[in-house]
Amino acid sequence: MEDGESDMLTAAKILDSAPRESGVVLKNGKTVRVRPVVQTDKARIVDLLGKLSPDSIYRRFLRPVDTLPEEFLFQLTHFDDQKSYALAAVICEAGKEALIAVARLCHDPLEETTDFAIVVRDDWQRCGLGEFMLRELFKAGRQRNLTILSSVIDSSNRGIKQVLRKTGCRVRYVHEKGATKIDVFL
Ligand SMILES: CC(C)(COP(=O)(O)OP(=O)(O)OC[C@H]1O[C@@H](n2cnc3c(N)ncnc32)[C@H](O)[C@@H]1OP(=O)(O)O)[C@@H](O)C(=O)NCCC(=O)NCCS
Repeated sequence: MEDGESDMLTAAKILDSAPRESGVVLKNGKTVRVRPVVQTDKARIVDLLGKLSPDSIYRRFLRPVDTLPEEFLFQLTHFDDQKSYALAAVICEAGKEALIAVARLCHDPLEETTDFAIVVRDDWQRCGLGEFMLRELFKAGRQRNLTILSSVIDSSNRGIKQVLRKTGCRVRYVHEKGATKIDVFL
């Protein structure tokens, strides 16, 4: 079989086996829909950024961010590489869909590495959504035959360390100058 054909079969298998959508009842009693990010989510992601506290923005991006570059928004909503993926948690707010969390896998085919990142809107934190989204993201990573997911976090970010502990995955932490590199073994 040609390489291209085998890639297409793998891609088809991933799409067949990946749950397209799930629902979760959070600790606040509310039900949230979790689904893959779609191309039309761009405006909703911008809306989510506008509702994050400076602290959450800093923990997610490791710097203050006012606006998201077009290129980044494009990458977040378009997946040309089958190993990249993003999940959104969706609610109905003011009569329309709003995103309250996004979790993402970003694969670098040249380096053969995959980064992950997550952010939950401040008014929805500590309800169990971060743990649910990471478990779903890691499931998607396993379906894509990924074995290690990496991220760089602020060393003082206790929240993400605790949530990762709850997922039950083995995590390696390497501390370097105020930042911590994380490797999650799926
Ligand atoms: C980290 C983050 C994703 C956690 O999401 P969340 O939805 O609040 O997490 P959960 O509700 O699933 O938390 C599960 C457990 O993790 C621990 N935890 C979560 N946030 C915590 C915090 N700020 N401090 C200490 N423990 C925390 C708790 O043990 C919690 O369980 P409990 O509430 O029953 O005590 C969220 O705080 C966030 O978006 N932070 C800003 C962005 C960020 O730090 N991203 C990570 C780097 S990419």
